Amino acid sequence: MSQISIKTPLPGPKAKAIIDQDHQYLSTSRYQMYPFVLAGGKGCYVEDVDGNVFMDMHAGIAVTSTGHNHPEVNAAIEAQTKRYLHNCGNVFYNDSQGRYAQRLAEVTPIHNSEQNRVFFCNTGAEAWDGAVKLARYATGRQNVICFYNGFHGRTLGGISANSSKVVQRRGFGPLLPGMHFSYFPREFECPSNPPYPTSVEGCLEYLEEVLFKKVVSPDEVAAIAFEPVQGEGGYIVPPKAFIEGLRRICDKHGILMIADEVQCGMGRTGKIFAMEHFDVKADIVTTAKGIASGMPIAAFVASDKVMAWPEGAHGSTYGGNPVAVAAAEKTMDLLQSSLCANAKDVGAYFMDKLKVLKDKYGEAIGDVRGLGLMIGVEFVKRDNGRVVHDGALRDAVIQQSFKHGLLTLACGNSTLRFCPPLVITKEEVDIVVDIMDAVFSEVI
Ligand SMILES: Cc1ncc(COP(=O)(O)O)c(C=O)c1O
Repeated sequence: MSQISIKTPLPGPKAKAIIDQDHQYLSTSRYQMYPFVLAGGKGCYVEDVDGNVFMDMHAGIAVTSTGHNHPEVNAAIEAQTKRYLHNCGNVFYNDSQGRYAQRLAEVTPIHNSEQNRVFFCNTGAEAWDGAVKLARYATGRQNVICFYNGFHGRTLGGISANSSKVVQRRGFGPLLPGMHFSYFPREFECPSNPPYPTSVEGCLEYLEEVLFKKVVSPDEVAAIAFEPVQGEGGYIVPPKAFIEGLRRICDKHGILMIADEVQCGMGRTGKIFAMEHFDVKADIVTTAKGIASGMPIAAFVASDKVMAWPEGAHGSTYGGNPVAVAAAEKTMDLLQSSLCANAKDVGAYFMDKLKVLKDKYGEAIGDVRGLGLMIGVEFVKRDNGRVVHDGALRDAVIQQSFKHGLLTLACGNSTLRFCPPLVITKEEVDIVVDIMDAVFSEVI
């Protein structure tokens, strides 16, 4: 399985039967972009049930960081399954949880900390909820400042802080009280000249001069919480000065900073944590997704001063599951030995090549941006001379890419996201970019 090969109409007959069954029995809340039914994978390639081979540019939404079927990760998982599967690490000891906690604690940059502690859970949303609970507990305050276009998961705690799509919140209220929204800066403004702040100065001023003076007093704010690179909201990389400004505000008011690194963490941006690009440390860091190459495990990390809650204050039956920990340990080995460097190197190469396409396709591509292998391409059009989102074009690009054997994903209003396995090579990027070029020439 080392090259794209489409042999049947899409979906093929086996895929179609499975899709029909899914549609009959699975929740209607699911959302499928295209009819691909996974049957196997290797590195960046995936095969469907009809034997068609595609290239995977979403890695199960930024999860399969070491690629599909990495032999060392699989061997670590298999070895652990022969020893034991579970003992509830939150209540009982086992021989790997503390070892991996030490490793994660030591690589996570935390503000003013000499020693970090880790809480293991299962999903990004569970890590988010735990981080908010910890911030409330540690400060004795209730309010949290979140950011427009942010995404933190699907639990009630997560959706209370989400503001990337209203469908995630509609009908589920009342949501968690005390969650307030502020503006996240973006260097590429779409629609052009929006009537809300987009500059670093404008966004920080809104927080301090509007929210803190008219809505919520900073001495009642537990945390300022954000994604160091916004994911679901459109792959938006904030300027360094913004994160520095947030740190200054947190320090001034005794507010904890939560960095939600669920999507941008674990090597995806070319460093283990995206916050390392900003030279600013958060007080609580959440992680999940790429941490264990596809096994479900998540965590949040804080200093031992902040994570000083009493026995029984927080828990999780499966958190830190030993099989998932085995995968996480091997994933960390691979990230540290080569994949972080690969994400930086191949990510820069990928971005440069996409920028060449941006120049070629002129007005339809407003922006190409990202860090490492977290890259967004934003589609735009003109409306009475104004540059606005073109979500329809983005969706057409995704459908046409699928026909060419490329699995891509949307985010934000009109952004195409690339978050491939971190094992991707420059040669594979060349294949992807050639396909994108063909797709753009067909749909733009
Ligand atoms: C930044 C961020 N936080 C939290 C989550 C929720 O993670 P999960 O789906 O594992 O609950 C996501 C998922 O996309 C995410 O991107």
